[in-house]
Amino acid sequence: MELKHWKLHGDESGIAWLWFDRADSATNTFSTEVLKELSAMADHLAVMPPKGLAILSGKENGFAAGADIDEFVAIQSADEAMELTILGNEVFDKVERLPFATVAMIHGFCMGGGLELALACKYRVADDAPKTRMALPEVMIGIVPGWGGAKRLPRLIGAASALDLMLTGRGIDARRAKKLGVVDAVTPRRHFENAARQVLRNPPPRKGPGLVAAAGNWPGVREIVARTAANKVAERARRDHYPAPYAILDLWKDFGGDVRNVPRDHAASTASLFAHPTTRNLIRLFKLQDRLKAFGKQDVPPVKHLHVIGAGAMGGDIAAWAALRGIEVTLQDLAPERIAPAIKRAAELYGKRLRQPHLVRGAMDRLVPDVAGHGVARADLVIEAIVENAEVKRSLFASLEPRMKEGAVLGSNTSSIPLQELAGILARPERLVGIHFFNPVAQMMLVEIVQGPQTSDGVMRASQAFARQIDKLPLPCKSAPGFLVNRVLSPYLLEAMLAVDEGIAPETVDAAAKAFGMPMGPIELSDMVGLDVGWAVGQELAAARPGTPVPVKLKALVDAKQFGKKTGKGFYPWVRGKPVKGAAGTEGVDLAALADRLVLPALNEAVACVREGIVADADLCDAGMVFGTGFAPHLGGPFGAIHARGKDSWLRTMAELRAKHGARFEPDSGWSAL
Ligand code: NAI
Repeated sequence: MELKHWKLHGDESGIAWLWFDRADSATNTFSTEVLKELSAMADHLAVMPPKGLAILSGKENGFAAGADIDEFVAIQSADEAMELTILGNEVFDKVERLPFATVAMIHGFCMGGGLELALACKYRVADDAPKTRMALPEVMIGIVPGWGGAKRLPRLIGAASALDLMLTGRGIDARRAKKLGVVDAVTPRRHFENAARQVLRNPPPRKGPGLVAAAGNWPGVREIVARTAANKVAERARRDHYPAPYAILDLWKDFGGDVRNVPRDHAASTASLFAHPTTRNLIRLFKLQDRLKAFGKQDVPPVKHLHVIGAGAMGGDIAAWAALRGIEVTLQDLAPERIAPAIKRAAELYGKRLRQPHLVRGAMDRLVPDVAGHGVARADLVIEAIVENAEVKRSLFASLEPRMKEGAVLGSNTSSIPLQELAGILARPERLVGIHFFNPVAQMMLVEIVQGPQTSDGVMRASQAFARQIDKLPLPCKSAPGFLVNRVLSPYLLEAMLAVDEGIAPETVDAAAKAFGMPMGPIELSDMVGLDVGWAVGQELAAARPGTPVPVKLKALVDAKQFGKKTGKGFYPWVRGKPVKGAAGTEGVDLAALADRLVLPALNEAVACVREGIVADADLCDAGMVFGTGFAPHLGGPFGAIHARGKDSWLRTMAELRAKHGARFEPDSGWSAL
């Protein structure tokens, strides 16, 4: 049999080894051709049965990443989407029916269709390395685990755990997978082959979920589990914005987890999901994520030693994150007691992420408090994250630069100060770059890599590669006040605060933004980030735009040092890290009109940023706003929102708002180019 993507090899003990090694690709993904070859292979093995079959990957990075997204994007009709869904099901069903023991050998990532193939095998063994991750992340691109995952995973591990994995799309490591029952054995890679042989030679009784976990699949109990899960989903996403999690629940509850059983006109059908704009938008964002990742693919040496100055909210977490990702980090602040809280937060982060004590210890060992700043001389990269004050930053740079290594890069985490205001003090201004993280560092994927007029291309490339080295998404930006994300976000936050000054309750303002599709309301967000930080950024941006109104309530809060979450009071009182909100008071309020008023200043600014070339194009603006702030992902970010409703409609609304509120609703000249 002529095979492009699979290699079959039978050994003397009668075991067949089926290697998945997709041609012309560094990563295994399932295209129609890949599936058809696997189908033919399963037919062949069914008539010439070996003693057992091991399926493993020929790629170093992992078992398989899931369906071939490029093929999926090219699909034009719901019929074609259905065809691909049916094909995947038929092939994996064939694998499941093979009349001998089958084992999937999982290393690296095993995502979506990859995990669905593994679930169709009778057994699974996994490499215990931290890089091994399993997930059914379909929900993140607006679809369902439709190649049998929604059917097999609940049967294997019980409905509650399976729904949690399918509804969040989150990944689990090998140990967690063993604990949940997703895999049968976890071994170091060197014992991989032996573990598979053992399973195939003496197939153990197949495990199902324990009684309690199994009960979730029983009629009666199933409805309760479904309702609980639905309530959780409803807290996070509305069905009209994000239909996929609801479709997963329906699929499991009413159709046995098999997409082939869902009537075409049902909201959970492949056809309905395919036609929903959210699906297209989420897939587009998924592709844009790849585009951002590509900025980090540079032929430069990795950062071995990072020195971070400022161990506050940002610097402390940047240092912790980099050490988590394997870099030696020294962390400097004015006194040891300023560094201690950062080390404590790091320990909590490592406990959660790494779990195993020796890995936690390793990460803690890489994060070294360094009040004297000895690390500067060794560092390939120094990141400054001290107070947002140009004068203070300049004076730090003056003493820092002479101690830096030849060729080392100096990154500033400034939120708003243009690099040109800081570079003048340096003998080598070309080494200064903005490396701007978002809060909270561990959760936000985006890092703006800001090029000042003097920043060299080599320094940009090295900084982009660093962002990828620590698993973040680099977005190259031009240096202008606020760069991209804060510049687009600020007029939206400002508008929200002006609405509060007019007497609209913060709860109502936040509710309007959430109804539009923001993950968090602008007032809550401002409180969370810190009103002092917001004030400083606002001042910097307002300086570039005379006539910008000053929000009265914000100023009063800042004067009273009520900065939001960190001081326990801002627009909201904060208790145990959560805002205490009253009822939204949405009755009689046109939430959609209020949302338009809040969002339009951001859309207008996004248009201006692209016109000015702050980022290279509208796609990158959308990617920045979604990955940096969670700006309405179901709409596809600011430009996605503009195109969804149509430019003319937005401009009409803007004209009305201009008549009411004045010049801040003047459309940017860039709209005419859309
Ligand atoms: P922070 O106030 O929590 O921390 C600043 C730290 O720098 C303090 O621990 C302070 O002791 C230390 N520091 C001040 N001068 C120093 C010096 N000369 N040498 C050593 N340490 C010094 O501030 P935060 O929020 O971490 O912000 C730091 C920088 O990050 C600012 O430039 C800010 O604009 C930027 N930023 C802040 C974000 C946020 O959400 N808070 C988001 C992105 C960037």
